[in-house]
Amino acid sequence: MTSLQIAICEAKIDDLETLYKIELECFGHEAFPKSWFEYFLRTPKFLNLVALVKGEIAGFIIGSIIRYGNKTYGHIYSLDVSLGYRRRGVAYRLLDKAEEILIESGAEACHLEVRTDNIPALRLYKKRGYTITETLKNYYRTGVNGFRLSKNLSDQQARHPLRSRLANNT
Ligand SMILES: CC(C)(COP(=O)(O)OP(=O)(O)OC[C@H]1O[C@@H](n2cnc3c(N)ncnc32)[C@H](O)[C@@H]1OP(=O)(O)O)[C@@H](O)C(=O)NCCC(=O)NCCS
Repeated sequence: MTSLQIAICEAKIDDLETLYKIELECFGHEAFPKSWFEYFLRTPKFLNLVALVKGEIAGFIIGSIIRYGNKTYGHIYSLDVSLGYRRRGVAYRLLDKAEEILIESGAEACHLEVRTDNIPALRLYKKRGYTITETLKNYYRTGVNGFRLSKNLSDQQARHPLRSRLANNT
């Protein structure tokens, strides 16, 4: 299969209908409510990115940067790729870009939750360096268990050009 030309851009409120359509395609009756997507898209603290292929939205990622005390970390809430664009590296690109932004924002780690039976997502996150840190009983509305996964970003923080320059000046 030929490789895709994928552009990663910030999502806009005008993308709401398309994002929700992809969410329904991915999760059916377990989809997040549309109102949540509207909230994500309208609230600046969320990190909302879309993957565009020839101008069409192929997938999206939603996360946030959380500052708690003197700690900063990222949380991913949703990573969805439309059926016609799967297994072509769209999720990798979205996750890589989200992590890049988290690292630039000073996040030391990234956390997310996934169903214990979601093998594609578990393989994807494992390949990108996430490890299971917790099992969450009855985490999903349907009573399905979840895993919490985490990735340490502090190594990449140290390698980030701006951060290492700042560290060298202190
Ligand atoms: C999980 C999902 C986001 C992957 O998107 P994608 O764009 O197809 O993923 P990529 O092409 O970037 O693949 C990345 C890796 O994920 C894993 N993967 C993706 N789909 C897979 C599948 N069907 N079976 C097994 N592994 C899979 C592979 O390890 C793959 O790497 P490889 O191709 O080098 O083997 C997509 O299947 C999806 O949207 N699923 C429904 C929504 C969902 O479950 N989101 C995650 C919730 S947290």
